[in-house]
Amino acid sequence: MYIKENFTFSGTLDMKIIEELTDILESALDEIQGVVSLKDLTDLRVKYLGRKSRIIAILKGLGSLPKELRPEAGSASNEIKQKIEEALKHRSEELSVDIFKELGTTERIDITEPGISGERGSLHPITQLGMELEDIFMSMGFSIATGPEVELDYYNFEALNIPQDHPARDIQDTFWTVDGTLLRTHTSCVQVRTMEKQKPPIRVVAPGRVFRYEETDASHEHTFYQVEGLMVDRDISVANLIAVMRTMLREVFRKDVKVRLRPGYFPFVEPGFELDISCHLCDGKGCSVCKWSGWEELIGCGLVHPNVLSMCGIDPAEYSGFAFGMGLDRLVMMRYGIDDIRLFHSGNLKFLRQF
Ligand code: DAH
Repeated sequence: MYIKENFTFSGTLDMKIIEELTDILESALDEIQGVVSLKDLTDLRVKYLGRKSRIIAILKGLGSLPKELRPEAGSASNEIKQKIEEALKHRSEELSVDIFKELGTTERIDITEPGISGERGSLHPITQLGMELEDIFMSMGFSIATGPEVELDYYNFEALNIPQDHPARDIQDTFWTVDGTLLRTHTSCVQVRTMEKQKPPIRVVAPGRVFRYEETDASHEHTFYQVEGLMVDRDISVANLIAVMRTMLREVFRKDVKVRLRPGYFPFVEPGFELDISCHLCDGKGCSVCKWSGWEELIGCGLVHPNVLSMCGIDPAEYSGFAFGMGLDRLVMMRYGIDDIRLFHSGNLKFLRQF
């Protein structure tokens, strides 16, 4: 025991005081070693050295001892008190882990000073609208489909009724990879991938990134986003297409939007249309954005071509469907009046912080 090794009493001292001092020191050392917080250590200091502690009681009672015992009892008690002090100090040092010492620095920081808060980012406006569109379509019973960005010729062209040497291939300038695959030029490939796996009734939307080998300017990017949609079932008609488009546009622009269909050519739909919406800036009166027409071109759409249904193993005599594809970047630009598509990929924080 610590007390026995480090502390010896002379034989003249009263046995009861020896036992009492030994007991105080032993239990103090045990308890001090056992605490794990500075707060508990402070409590122990009060318990063992405070005004109401046993050791102070002994010191106070020295006067009542026979005269010859007083000096030795006094110095023994003081020695015990000092050992407890030392043990408290030592444990307190152990418990106050000094991070600065560990880091090898003497520099101190003011921990009361407010910190520099990290700046939080936000979702890109294209991501935001993409998610919003997913919600809108899901509320109409559509589910979300995806496909690869590096695609096979078959899904991007062939199965969409655009065979080799078809002139429509020229409309979508393509990035070809060295091994003959391509970066998808539109999200329409996901239509085919979906119909291969799933039989009618089908209701899917596929938002995604697409690529075109194009010169960039304020309205053209080589990398942009589209949302593709497909609904196949018995007796699907252009009326269903218009109803779904109207509902979607009303949700996006938060008001009724006037639409019109014009004939449009896309090999994978027949009939094919361009769906225009009345210009959101001038409300159809005519302005520089809509080139004084009052209309803006927004969505390519139509009824799924029978050849496409057949190639995907769906009988066109039994089923029909509509499909549409729209530029997500364009939709965001319209919604916020953004006049340069290149801003989306610019990484310009001044621009991005507005959303
Ligand atoms: N894929 C076409 C494009 O990128 C857009 C499109 C037009 C998609 C008509 C369709 C559609 O599903 O029916 O220009």
